Order: sequence, then structure tokens, then C-alpha cells
Amino acid sequence: MTPLIVALALAATLVGAETVDLSDPELIAEGSVQFAQSCAVGYCHGSAGRSARGPALRDRVWDPRELHRITADGLPGTSMPGWKSVLPDKAVWAVTAYVLSLSSEPPSGVAAIMELGSSEGPSERAPLSEAAVQGKELFFDLTRERRCGVCHYLDGLGTAVGPNLALAAQSKTRQELTRDILQPQATIAYGFEQVQLQLRSGERVEGVLAEESESRIRIFDAASVPPPLRSVAKRDVVRQRTRKRSSMPDDFDKVYAADEIASIVAYLSETGR
Ligand code: HEC
Repeated sequence: MTPLIVALALAATLVGAETVDLSDPELIAEGSVQFAQSCAVGYCHGSAGRSARGPALRDRVWDPRELHRITADGLPGTSMPGWKSVLPDKAVWAVTAYVLSLSSEPPSGVAAIMELGSSEGPSERAPLSEAAVQGKELFFDLTRERRCGVCHYLDGLGTAVGPNLALAAQSKTRQELTRDILQPQATIAYGFEQVQLQLRSGERVEGVLAEESESRIRIFDAASVPPPLRSVAKRDVVRQRTRKRSSMPDDFDKVYAADEIASIVAYLSETGR
């Protein structure tokens, strides 16, 4: 039997159960987007799973279920968080499929068919309070250039210039979140220290490092909001340094009224509960 027929036969025996195929290019593509947004940020696992601060994921051999379990539950006592309260199970499998696609032995055929679990995803959360609904509108308000969503990813929307706020929302108090918004310089999220490039032309570029290869540096330029992604050749860089500074604007107290800040914080904190 060809792998396809085996897979179909297997799928037929799992009547009623929803399955994913870890060798499906569409699932892998979905996982690569999720990976870039949630796992490569903060240099945890680096781009395309090449090592950054966290362990390298590339070119390793994994048991798919074990990798899924670690992605879903995290590793207690380490900085690897569990994603199952943030992402639906299908998205956790998509990330798993993507990491497996980088490994030296990606699963194929029947070995790639997995049954979707019933782990809770964001859709099963309690409904947001009225304040949090208002906060969500402000967070993604398309009429404001300085909306949070131009830099942050949350609840399946937004951009990954700054940290994915799901983890901060889960682990921080409302007071800490308020301080993060009004005084970004007070604490800097791990891996998001500002990078400063002094260019041969005399120009200085400051912002959030997106990616670094042997010859180029890609950086979100914090001089404007939304920050454009710039690509700079390394040979044009005279000096590169990392500073304990935030690239988040520090004038949100002038952009939003106090009750608006409170509703944005309500949105963050209810999303993380
Ligand atoms: C121009 C991009 C930009 C905008 C706009 C922006 N942020 Fe940020 N934000 C960042 C960056 C970069 C960091 C990481 C550095 C730091 O911790 O300050 C950050 C950090 C944070 C943190 C701390 C996250 C952590 O993991 O500790 C919170 C909370 C936060 N932002 C909330 C918001 C909210 C709410 C808004 C809208 C009112 C917003 N940000 C608008 C760029 C931005």
C-alpha cells in the first residue's frame, strides 16, 4: 500500500476524531508563521529553529507526541512556557509539524497522522468583560497609528515587533501591565533590548532585532510607528550594540485617557487568565 492509502485507511478508522497530517505542507506553513510569532521572538529558538538563546531545534530527531507535549505543556522550571492555554491544539500541532520539518527525520505516511486532543484553546475562554471588549477595540483600533497591534501579537492578531503579549498577560498583575505600558523603560522584556546600529553613512538605526544572518541584519526601525522592517548589510555597519532600553513609545499616557489604559489592561489580563 502507498503511504497515502495507509493514511486514508487509518483516517477512516478514526471516525469522528479530527486528525492532522504532520507532513501536510499547509499545516507546516501555518506552523512556520506561528513559530515566527511565538517561538523565534526574543531569540528563544532563533529563526528557522537555529539556535539563539534557547536550544536549537533544527536537525534533531523528535518523537512527534513528545515534542507536541513539550510545546503544549512547557518545561517546568525552565523559561519554556506551555502554549496550550494560548493556542488551540491544531496550532500546537502546526508548530510541532514545522519543527519536525526541520528535523533530520520528518515523519511521513501513517506516522504523521495525529489525533487532535481536546486541550483547551482560546475559544473556550470565558467571555470578556465590557471594559476588556473596549480595550480590545483600542488595542487593534485601525484609526490609530499608535495602536498596540502594530507591534504586538495577541489573540491571533497583530504583529511581532515587540513580545507576544500572551505570556505577559498570563504572568503579570494588572499593576505590572499598567507600568509596562506607561513606563516601558522600567523593565525590558527578555530578549527585546534595543539594538543600535551605527552605519558607515553616519546614520544611526535603533530598534528591535528581527533577524541576523552572516551578511545582513534585519531590524524594526523604532524611529517611526509602525516600525518599518529594514535590512542592513553588515559591511555598512560600523558599530552594533545592545542597550538596556525599550523600543516601545513612552508617551501612551498622552495617547490614551486613564480609563482607556485601564480597559486595555483589562483586555490583556482577561486574555491571559
Ligand atoms: C512601536 C512598537 C510598540 C508599540 C506601538 C507598543 N509596544 Fe509594547 N512593547 C514594544 C517592545 C519593543 C517591547 C519590549 C521592550 C519592553 O519590555 O519595553 C514592548 C513591551 C510591552 C510589554 C511588556 C511585555 C513583557 O513580556 O514583559 C507590554 C505589556 C506591552 N508592551 C504592552 C503594550 C500595549 C498595551 C501597547 C498599546 C497601548 C503597546 N505595548 C504598544 C513595542 C511596542
